[in-house]
Amino acid sequence: MDQRNTPLFNALLHYIEQNTLPFHSPAHKQGVGLAGPFRDFVGSNVLAIDLTVLPDLDFLSAPRGPIKRAQELAADAYGADHAFFLINGTSGGIHAMIMAAVGPGDKVLMPRNVHKSVFAGLVLSGAIPVYLQPEYDDRFGIPLQITPEQVEEAFRRDPDIKAVFVVNPTYYGIATYLRRIVEIAHGRGVPVIVDEAHGAHLIFNDALPESAMEAGADISAISTHKVAGSMTQSSLLVMKEGLLDYDRVQEILNYLQSTSPSFVLMASLDVARSNIAVHGDRLIKQAVSLAGEVRRRINEIPGFFAFGEEMVERGSVAAIDPTKITIRTVDLGLTGFEVEAILNREFDIAIELSGEHYILIPITIGDRRDRVERFLSALARLAQRFGKGPGSADRFLEAVRPPEIPPAVMPPRQAVFSKRDIVPISRAAGRVSAETILVYPPGIPIVTPGERITTEVLDYIDSLNRETTLLQGMSDPSLLTLQVLSEDGLGNVGQQRA
Ligand SMILES: Cc1ncc(COP(=O)(O)O)c(C=O)c1O
Repeated sequence: MDQRNTPLFNALLHYIEQNTLPFHSPAHKQGVGLAGPFRDFVGSNVLAIDLTVLPDLDFLSAPRGPIKRAQELAADAYGADHAFFLINGTSGGIHAMIMAAVGPGDKVLMPRNVHKSVFAGLVLSGAIPVYLQPEYDDRFGIPLQITPEQVEEAFRRDPDIKAVFVVNPTYYGIATYLRRIVEIAHGRGVPVIVDEAHGAHLIFNDALPESAMEAGADISAISTHKVAGSMTQSSLLVMKEGLLDYDRVQEILNYLQSTSPSFVLMASLDVARSNIAVHGDRLIKQAVSLAGEVRRRINEIPGFFAFGEEMVERGSVAAIDPTKITIRTVDLGLTGFEVEAILNREFDIAIELSGEHYILIPITIGDRRDRVERFLSALARLAQRFGKGPGSADRFLEAVRPPEIPPAVMPPRQAVFSKRDIVPISRAAGRVSAETILVYPPGIPIVTPGERITTEVLDYIDSLNRETTLLQGMSDPSLLTLQVLSEDGLGNVGQQRA
């Protein structure tokens, strides 16, 4: 297919060229009703293509025209049989993939460090998670990957697993042996679902880890907005026919997605796909080469360290995406949170993510050398100011390694719809959690709804330095109280909140 084509963007331009009289929503009528600073700032063109579902522009729920052609081009670019535009980010795609693959009571195998949208997918579908703990890196305090051996072992223990969910690559650019995991799952007739939020560029360059579709996975949600240049909130769902069915995926998406999809977001998907499919090899080569130089120069600054290819020696790591640069900061005596705050406050530099031990920056097709130089010189200034030599990392030796996964008492969906009480955390031991408590980053839940709150869980929460650790998910941010399931309400799906 000719990847230079952008059928949806062209259809919008055609609508405007025709000077069509808009007696339809949205109410601002191509910007006329939104005069003022917002329109002056964004310009009238973006409002002119903020249109609605019309026969000439097509229907996302039953595409027959330009959306269908744009989705076919996306499928072709990603080596898939079908592609779907997502307007609620990869989170929406993750909900849909899980609902399309599994139903109430079905077991789905997944790493513990999945994105929170996966839990929502479990609640929506009624499926039951079977968790695998990923390998963990203490130097950076980050999860690595799950292994094919863990997947094989899980099938031996639970032969009735109905789907395997893999995050590939992770936020940190860590890829597992996906092809091998697919072989194991397909050998049992089980589909493989991939969270490819950080992999929209993989298929366009050979230096990068294999993409989900190349590895033979059945379905994948891809954050085009994070890596390939479309607008925030726009993502793609791609799939292969076989163990999953196109009509079923479309049906599920129609339950979940808005009936008023943004044509601005969808047009940006169309154009970003064309750009990366046509120019991706060159653009990504530039990004990989720039990232290689940035990594090398960071590793020359005393006190900072960015991991590279040597990470592949770890058992669960098949490959790394070199464009993701995770930089250990604690040898300088600073947490990643502190480095992020200083970069922000003193250098006007905003970064992607920070953790106790590290900061993370992605180098993308949007980066240019001058910006990278500014970042590197800020790091060099920090090293001069804070460099204390070896030993300064001592206060950080306690990595945020999570406790054992607590025992599950009921499926997530049942827990979320059960009656609940609020109890002081000192009296929570032995109760069943009604909420998720998560250290973010790295995003590994300590406990999720339906799991028993063990003393190990409480000791771990107690041991965290709450001033610097970002605990997420709980209703009481001070963590003096916890929401637990009412003892009389256990198992009563659909009961009102107490
Ligand atoms: C691994 C992973 N999966 C899924 C998501 C959700 O993607 P989105 O923000 O496009 O909804 C994220 C977002 O950060 C993520 O890091």
